[in-house]
Amino acid sequence: MILITGGAGFIGSHVVAHFRQFFPQTPLMILDALTYASNYATVKPYIGLDCYFTQGSIGDEALVRGLFDRHDIRHVIHLAAESHVDNSIHSPGIFVDTNVRGTFVLLEAARAHWMQAPHQVKDGYADSRFHHVSTDEVYGSLGDTGYFTEASPYQPNSPYSATKAASDFLVRAAFHTYGLNVVTTNCSNNYGPHQHSEKLIPTIVRSAKQWQRIPIYGSGKQTRDWLYVSDHAGAIERVFHHGQSGATYLIGGRNERSNLELAHLICSILDSKYPSSNGPYSTLIEMVSDRPGHDWRYAINPEFIERDLGWVAPTDFEWGLSETIDWLWAQ
Ligand SMILES: NC(=O)c1ccc[n+]([C@@H]2O[C@H](COP(=O)([O-])OP(=O)(O)OC[C@H]3O[C@@H](n4cnc5c(N)ncnc54)[C@H](O)[C@@H]3O)[C@@H](O)[C@H]2O)c1
Repeated sequence: MILITGGAGFIGSHVVAHFRQFFPQTPLMILDALTYASNYATVKPYIGLDCYFTQGSIGDEALVRGLFDRHDIRHVIHLAAESHVDNSIHSPGIFVDTNVRGTFVLLEAARAHWMQAPHQVKDGYADSRFHHVSTDEVYGSLGDTGYFTEASPYQPNSPYSATKAASDFLVRAAFHTYGLNVVTTNCSNNYGPHQHSEKLIPTIVRSAKQWQRIPIYGSGKQTRDWLYVSDHAGAIERVFHHGQSGATYLIGGRNERSNLELAHLICSILDSKYPSSNGPYSTLIEMVSDRPGHDWRYAINPEFIERDLGWVAPTDFEWGLSETIDWLWAQ
C-alpha cells in the first residue's frame, strides 16, 4: 500500500487520480489533515475498494506509526505541506511544524517500519520507497538568464522555501545515514483544476469573473515556469516507479512567463471564451505593492528527467490554461 500524504490538496488529488486510473490494483491510503487548502470532494469519488482515507496530521506521530503498522505501508508519496508563500510570511510557525517536523515524523515511521538497522532493509521491504515532493523555490531566485538544475545550490528566500529546503535535507540525510530508499522531486509552479483560490491563476480568473481589479505584485516582471498539474502527477509516478534511489529530479514544463504576461494571456483567453459587456478584462489589471522578498525568476532545466526517465511534459501551455480557466470559471 502507498501512503499518499496531502492527497486532498491540489497536486495530491491529481496524483491519486493518476494512480487510480493507471494503477488501479495498487492500494492507496490518503492521509490529509483537511486544512483550508484541501478539497475532500476531489478525492471522495475514489474512496472505496483499495483506496482509503484518514483525516489527520503528518505531525501526529502515534497516528502515523499506527497507519504504518495497521496497513503495512510499503511506500510513501509525500505531498502534504503548507504551501502558500504569503501565508508563510505572516505565520511561519505552522510551516516549520508541517513541512519540517511532519516530514521528519514520516521519515522516522518509514525507517522504523522498513529498516532493521542503518543500510539493512527488513525482509520483504527491499522495494519500499519514500518519494518526497518538493519545490524549485528551494534554489532561490534566478536573474534574467540561466536555469535551475539538480546541482544548483540551495538558497531559499521565504519561510515556505526554507522549510521545504529543510525537509529536502532530512530526506537526503535519511538516504545517506540510514540507507532509506528515497527520491526527491523539485517542481516548478503548477497550474490546473483543483488549485486553491488563493494562488495566482485562480485569483486572476476569479477577479475577472467578478469584474474586480486583478492584482499583480510589483513590476509584474517576476517570471515563473508553469507546469500543468496532471503532467506533474505523471512525472511523480514515473520517478516513483523508475527513478534512481537517492536521486533528485527537477520537473518543469519549459513554460516561462512573467506574471504580467500571464495575466494578459489569461485576459485574452477570457475575452474570447467569456467576453464581458464591460470591455476587455485586461483593463482590470492593477499593479500592487510587491511581496517582501519576492523571488525574481524561477526556471527549470528538465534535461535530467528527460534523459534518465524519458519524461517530457506533454501538455501545451495555452491548451492547459484554457482547460484551467474553464474549470475556474465554473466554480
Ligand atoms: N503548487 C505548486 O505549484 C507546487 C510546486 C512545486 C512543489 N509543490 C509541492 O507539492 C506539494 C503539494 O502542493 P499543493 O499545491 O498540492 O499544496 P496544497 O496546499 O494545495 O495541498 C496541501 C495538502 O496538504 C494537506 N496538509 C497540510 N498540512 C498537513 C498536515 N500537517 N498533515 C496532513 N496533511 C496536511 C492539506 O490539507 C492539503 O490537502 C507540496 O509539498 C508543495 O510544496 C507545489
